Amino acid sequence: MSGPDSSSGPRTAAPQDSGEDLVRALALAFKRQKVYGPSHPAALRAAQGMADALSPLLREQEEVGVTLNHRADPANGRARPAAKGATADLVKAAIQHSIDRIVISGDLTARQVIALVQLLGKRRDEVEAKGGLPSVLAQQGLTCIVCEIAAPPAEVSVEQAPPGVDASLVSTYGTALGVIQESTQQARLGRVLNAAAAQTLASQLADNMIEDQAKLLGLLSIRKHDEYTFQHSLNVCVLALALGMAMGLDRPRLHALGLAAILHDVGKAWVPLEVLRKPGRLTEDELALIQQHPVRGAIYLSQQPEVPPPAALVAFQHHLGYDQRGYPKLRWPHSLNAYSLIAGIADAYEALTSDRPYRPTLGPDEALGVMLETPPGQFEPRMLDVFAEMLSKSHLLAESPDPSAEREPSSTERQLTAAETGPRVS
Ligand SMILES: [Fe+2]
Ligand SMILES: [Fe+2]
Repeated sequence: MSGPDSSSGPRTAAPQDSGEDLVRALALAFKRQKVYGPSHPAALRAAQGMADALSPLLREQEEVGVTLNHRADPANGRARPAAKGATADLVKAAIQHSIDRIVISGDLTARQVIALVQLLGKRRDEVEAKGGLPSVLAQQGLTCIVCEIAAPPAEVSVEQAPPGVDASLVSTYGTALGVIQESTQQARLGRVLNAAAAQTLASQLADNMIEDQAKLLGLLSIRKHDEYTFQHSLNVCVLALALGMAMGLDRPRLHALGLAAILHDVGKAWVPLEVLRKPGRLTEDELALIQQHPVRGAIYLSQQPEVPPPAALVAFQHHLGYDQRGYPKLRWPHSLNAYSLIAGIADAYEALTSDRPYRPTLGPDEALGVMLETPPGQFEPRMLDVFAEMLSKSHLLAESPDPSAEREPSSTERQLTAAETGPRVS
């Protein structure tokens, strides 16, 4: 792929929106390829038309944006008229892939345009099974193309606060889910993480936890079933903050812990959605895909200049367990980060109390009971005791017995029921 001609005068750096002509040219290439196949002269002519339309624009500017979503025209904010004909088909395909805009930074050949429209014509799950759009674009040598997803709505709507939950939390919940959703989308596209938004959210949640723990724990009772992954990350953050505070962490450390907890599962962006949402038992291959998420997340976070190192460590270690017998499998022991151990406890509790299609939901007391009865090794024992005490003091457990009376028998029971090969909670 040749780069744009840089000898014809200064070019603008910001990607300018191309206007409707380029959208129509791409739409025609998309339709012809679909109807006639990629090698047909009519398809190649349309693809060449797109390449020819693009070339002069790239001499004027470094990047050209082709906006495909129909939600708003970025130039003036007005709603774009409903797409028709070939453009409607292209827009539909883009929406299926959650693409709002394609940014092109180098000249394309007709064959490369064909490769792009072929990719847009594939089903999203097919593309995700091959590693997602950025990875497939790279495999095909289309490294000068970036498919952008516009920022999600600032708030994910939740109809009303559940009984007993502070109404102001509903707004916090919606905003938080929006930030987590955006982070996951950025990771899925291989783009630089907007760490400032996640950092602000983590700091706000940590500050709220310090000011009114009981109120913030109310976030755990808000459930929206189709947002599991984002909701899980938010809940893990709240629980990790509660445990961190019970352990006496100061405000800066709580901020760092909160950010790491929000991002702990960002590696799931590389797991196909149909695997993440599969209701039945996972195959070995599917399980292996899921178990890659700590490594994928850690690599991604370690490459983000704005994200402090503990976040990558927590992403890597949160399923390892205190005994390091979880996953990923290690060749030699690691030095475990305390935030990872905290996140591991919060993560397990959140998973047990969530409504998942493949197993019954446990109540807070039952979930804690399962964790206390888990054979020693998975959880750091002192942290687990502090977690149990924190929960017993909160309103989350059905009864709030004297924590000092509850904690010691649980620990003893855990010793008595210790078995070498018990199930791990994850
Ligand atoms: Fe995880
Ligand atoms: Fe998790």
